[in-house]
Amino acid sequence: MEERRPLIAGNWKMHGLHREGVALAAAVAEKAASHHGHLHLDLLVCPPATLLREISETLAESVIAVGGQDCHALESGAHTGDVSAAMLKDAGCSHVIVGHSERRADHGENSDQVRAKATAAHACGLTVVICIGETREQRDRGEAMDIVGSQLAGSLPDGANAENTVIAYEPVWAIGTGLVATVADVAEVHAGVRAGLAKALSDSDAMRILYGGSVKPGNAAELMELKDVDGALVGGASLKAEDFWAIAETCL
Ligand code: PGA
Repeated sequence: MEERRPLIAGNWKMHGLHREGVALAAAVAEKAASHHGHLHLDLLVCPPATLLREISETLAESVIAVGGQDCHALESGAHTGDVSAAMLKDAGCSHVIVGHSERRADHGENSDQVRAKATAAHACGLTVVICIGETREQRDRGEAMDIVGSQLAGSLPDGANAENTVIAYEPVWAIGTGLVATVADVAEVHAGVRAGLAKALSDSDAMRILYGGSVKPGNAAELMELKDVDGALVGGASLKAEDFWAIAETCL
């Protein structure tokens, strides 16, 4: 089997006004350019919707891809405040995150809706990063594997393959809290996700599974070296070019 190429993705969430967002993207691009020719990983930044077009232009000459943080399942229509996959594509995106736990919690999104969003994104030629993960209560009740398994099965659209889909396992209680799942727990869940993918897909071995939840320069190396961890979805630490790059360097 060919080795899976790591993906380090930055989820900026609702951070970044114009000037600082462009400066952050440019700073990451400069780091990537200095390694030109021997970058054995993929890089993605997901800025807020207001900055997508400008940052796509800032990164046009760079290897760094740009993604949205969510999309609507429909192409257009009376959906105030929403952004469609076609709009993301039009703004220069190649990727979109769907099913982030903050969307599932703040907007009540369930896996059926996440699957519909992923289907819409695929129809526009976008690669989706599908997020799944259990809450602290679910983990304490011993339900982590079941929750993650059912979110995976429910969110994965027909036609998903290793080219157009990436999975991100993000335990909800580890996001933005400084708490990280133990290496053993991450290894166990990622192996479970890999097994779940094998039931659903023919090229499951090639699909990337990212870990997310308080990934920092100090803990990235031990997580990234796990067999079924193929990169990271980074929130807080992606807002500093130095930190984001230090995490990427653990995969170089
Ligand atoms: P965090 O966020 O790195 O700040 O924990 C990760 C995410 O929500 O994608």
